[in-house]
Amino acid sequence: MKEQVIAFELNGEKVETYTDPALSLLHLLRSRFNLLGTKEGCGRGECGACTVLVDGRAVNSCLVPAGKVRGRKVYTIEGVTAEGLLRGAKVHPLQEAFVESGAVQCGFCTPGMVMSTYALLNDNPSPSPEEVREAISGNLCRCSGYKQIEEAVLEAAQRLKAQDWQDRNSGKT
Ligand code: FES
Ligand code: FES
Repeated sequence: MKEQVIAFELNGEKVETYTDPALSLLHLLRSRFNLLGTKEGCGRGECGACTVLVDGRAVNSCLVPAGKVRGRKVYTIEGVTAEGLLRGAKVHPLQEAFVESGAVQCGFCTPGMVMSTYALLNDNPSPSPEEVREAISGNLCRCSGYKQIEEAVLEAAQRLKAQDWQDRNSGKT
């Protein structure tokens, strides 16, 4: 397809690029914006490794054509990390809890897991274990086991409440 100008918001900043609107958002993020935290696993909507937020909703970026994000807000794992840095931490409390709970082994699924559960915690700051499992039901992990991931998300929910992470909504909804 013919290349077009596509303007959208990426991790809180307005961006514009000239691209084939049929290119996947996953490839747009990785190749045009060098945001390599979003991973390509299956490339067909089955593994969740490529999860990002579009207007606050977790989506598989491998299935979203670049043309569909025109005027929308896209938020990636790099945006989540930047939130932690802005608050004087090294990473976001959710990422911290993943590491401390042993939920990261090879780490390939982790950005997608973090994005899915980040979206969950924005909508529901006190999820039940079942709600966490539901939120990550589209994210596959071959290594660490889902129990540690579930524990990490529940722990992160506590930390976010304790730290009163009020401005965590900036930029992605
Ligand atoms: S790479 Fe997108 S769902 Fe697997
Ligand atoms: S930590 Fe390796 S796939 Fe999940």
